[in-house]
Amino acid sequence: MSSNRKYDNVLVFGPTGDVGGLVALEAHNRGAKVWLAMRDITKPIPAIPTDVEKTGNFVRVQADLSDAASVARAVAESGVKAVYMYIVHGGADFGRAALQVMRDNGVEYVVFLSSYSVKGEGNALRALPPTNWIPYEHAQVEITIEDIGFPYFTTLRPAWFASNYFRTGLDRSAKPPKAILIAGYEDKRLFDNVTPEDVGAVGGAVLVERPSDRKETIWICGPDTCSPKEGWELVKKVTGRTDIETILVPAEQFIAATVAKGIPQVLVDSLLSSYERWQGGYEAEPEFKVGMANIAKYAGRAPMTFVQYLEAHKAEWAAI
Ligand SMILES: NC(=O)c1ccc[n+]([C@@H]2O[C@H](COP(=O)([O-])OP(=O)(O)OC[C@H]3O[C@@H](n4cnc5c(N)ncnc54)[C@H](OP(=O)(O)O)[C@@H]3O)[C@@H](O)[C@H]2O)c1
Repeated sequence: MSSNRKYDNVLVFGPTGDVGGLVALEAHNRGAKVWLAMRDITKPIPAIPTDVEKTGNFVRVQADLSDAASVARAVAESGVKAVYMYIVHGGADFGRAALQVMRDNGVEYVVFLSSYSVKGEGNALRALPPTNWIPYEHAQVEITIEDIGFPYFTTLRPAWFASNYFRTGLDRSAKPPKAILIAGYEDKRLFDNVTPEDVGAVGGAVLVERPSDRKETIWICGPDTCSPKEGWELVKKVTGRTDIETILVPAEQFIAATVAKGIPQVLVDSLLSSYERWQGGYEAEPEFKVGMANIAKYAGRAPMTFVQYLEAHKAEWAAI
């Protein structure tokens, strides 16, 4: 690979996040100086041990993707040409103002955390309808990056995160918490359980070493496809949280409860529409097969299994 694809000075938005923190750590382990662009620079960064951050080549810098002036300042101060970024859900302009000031301040390469649900490129990408919000909003950011004219762009399109059981799958108003299964989907092979560890490792690798001189789409899929019911059985067994009761709720009840927690209805509807599309099993899709191979291809190691992931996160499960 030619050396002009290497970046030794990179900026990561959202290092407090699961994937962002691991992208930053991987980029650092691969030799880059890493600017940690945070809304609140005093927050802890769970993925990067404090001593590693202190002794390593990391710099915290304030930036909010919803505030273009802060992004311009952070990019100008860092002098980076390569950035990693998330979507800001509900952002008014799909990141346009922030992306424009990145380009104006010398960024040439963007790595964006998109979604497996975004299918297609070019006109197909532009034709995705807003009625299916999750692919639509991620596609709008990809289109914006293309339209602004960044010379290089890598989009990460991971499938279903292993962290979802802990992050969104629990009713924490009960003690012990309850695991929610949506009736009608509990036995469908919907979850591939790709780990934030693997998404972060791929993201960090391609941030410091650009894979090509064009837009690169990287599907990322986990090695352990299972149904929601099987997934929860494994969560309980490996973490020891056998006290978590699994409850089956009708889709309408799930939608109402999730909206009541403040999650926009369009997002919940879109999630259920993905379940509907994938219930026949999505492992046979060509993107899925490529996605499983991409972890070894880009991160240079075998994918983390779901059991390994749960073993590594036992302490978090013990604490709820
Ligand atoms: N869950 C899935 O199955 C799945 C599948 C495919 C793709 N995805 C994509 O992955 C994303 C979730 O990744 P994750 O689990 O790593 O998320 P996460 O842990 O929730 O982290 C989100 C990060 O974004 C930062 N952030 C939020 N708003 C920001 C803003 N205005 N400016 C700058 N930073 C901002 C947060 O920083 P603060 O500390 O300031 O809040 C945090 O560091 C989803 O939103 C989706 O786009 C998810």
